[in-house]
Amino acid sequence: MSPPAARRASMALLLSAGALGCKPSADRPAEAPWVWDLPPGFPAPLVPADNPMSAAKVALGRMLFYDKRLSADESLSCATCHQQALAFSDGRTTPVGLEGDAHPRNAPTLANVVYAPRLNWADPGTKALEAQMEGPLFGHGAPIVEMGLVDEPRREAALARLLADARYREAFARAFPDTATYTFVHVGKALASFERTLVSGMSAWDRYRAGDDAALGPAERRGMYITRDHVGGALCHHCHDGFNLSGPVKHVDAPFDEVVFANIGLYNVGGTGAYPEGNQGLYEHTKNLSDRGKFRTPTLRNIAVTGPYMHDGSVATLEDVLTVYVEGGRVIEAGPYAGDGRKNPHKSAGLSGTPLSAEQRQDVLAFLGALTDEAFLVDARFSNPHPEDPHFGE
Ligand code: HEC
Ligand code: HEC
Repeated sequence: MSPPAARRASMALLLSAGALGCKPSADRPAEAPWVWDLPPGFPAPLVPADNPMSAAKVALGRMLFYDKRLSADESLSCATCHQQALAFSDGRTTPVGLEGDAHPRNAPTLANVVYAPRLNWADPGTKALEAQMEGPLFGHGAPIVEMGLVDEPRREAALARLLADARYREAFARAFPDTATYTFVHVGKALASFERTLVSGMSAWDRYRAGDDAALGPAERRGMYITRDHVGGALCHHCHDGFNLSGPVKHVDAPFDEVVFANIGLYNVGGTGAYPEGNQGLYEHTKNLSDRGKFRTPTLRNIAVTGPYMHDGSVATLEDVLTVYVEGGRVIEAGPYAGDGRKNPHKSAGLSGTPLSAEQRQDVLAFLGALTDEAFLVDARFSNPHPEDPHFGE
């Protein structure tokens, strides 16, 4: 959701870092140009012209990402809900903000978020990481208060907390050498730069794709073919497609703005085609009935570590995910959301169910397991930079 203009304007809130003792750094030597360190075959990412990549911005963004001082009561960091060991998801059905409210949606992985043409589960308006983070940082309660910097005094206090720390005065000066006055615009640019480096592409499947035939065992290979099979197969790749096994991606070789949302038949509340109130996907933004239950197709990379699954975390395991696809939707027998999702009138084409034997299901699960990039989950470049300091953490 695009934040109101007023909230955007308040992002330009100025806090004089000079008053907090920051020294301009005009005499600092210029940094070497940024070079992407991408997995084999990955396309070069697109980066906004007003926020070019730099190692200094990435370093500052990494500190900010892990710093609880960035939330109003210093209890939550971005990493609370986006944990590296879980490919930057959080293992919960849905996360909880600092006022104790549960978010209606599951915290998604941030792996390869640099390639996403749209952000969030079903948000046609948010394209840039710089804009996305206004939700968790500043959000007033739509859908919930997350990090609680809901007004200018709280934002000013958070910036002052950071700039009271000499490590930040140094890091901001390096990242933004042309100014000595720092605002949330700088915080946003640095956080976005760090997020853009969270590229994951060294799974067993990637090694196989790069020519190492032994990287996938027989079951994993059979599972891979099942997910692409046109003869009675599952056609998963119609939606989870390309190098990211996701919906459309955007990069230097594909700069166009392609966006697709799909309904996989998880709900059909009362047989009306509805999804639970407040979580109806694209419909919440367009109010077109046919958009009920439509969500972005997430990446299948690292899927074995990012459960529970789906926009609301309502599918516990990958076995259960497969049951949804085998049945062509989910039947909920009782309770407020009872209904036969298989018959949801807005369900996307190609999801009429796919008969898989028990062995074929095991093969698909083996393939999904081969999509975990173990190196990404422990890569020191993405980890908490100050684990010894209690301000930093998950
Ligand atoms: C309280 C938990 C929580 C916190 C804290 C949090 N997030 Fe999130 N994040 C979520 C949830 C839930 C979503 C999905 C929101 C939606 O779809 O409506 C999300 C979505 C995202 C996305 C979109 C990913 C995609 O592929 O669409 C990005 C990027 C992101 N968060 C970055 C951040 C950053 C940066 C911070 C810190 C400033 C942060 N998050 C703090 C829970 C959290
Ligand atoms: C018509 C497009 C489409 C097809 C075909 C499709 N998916 Fe999906 N998939 C989606 C969408 C959209 C979501 C998110 C749905 C939601 O949250 O309501 C999703 C979610 C998932 C998730 C959970 C991801 C997460 O991060 O929570 C998994 C796992 C998954 N699909 C695997 C598969 C497999 C395996 C197949 C083939 C059997 C398949 N999908 C076929 C569109 C599709």
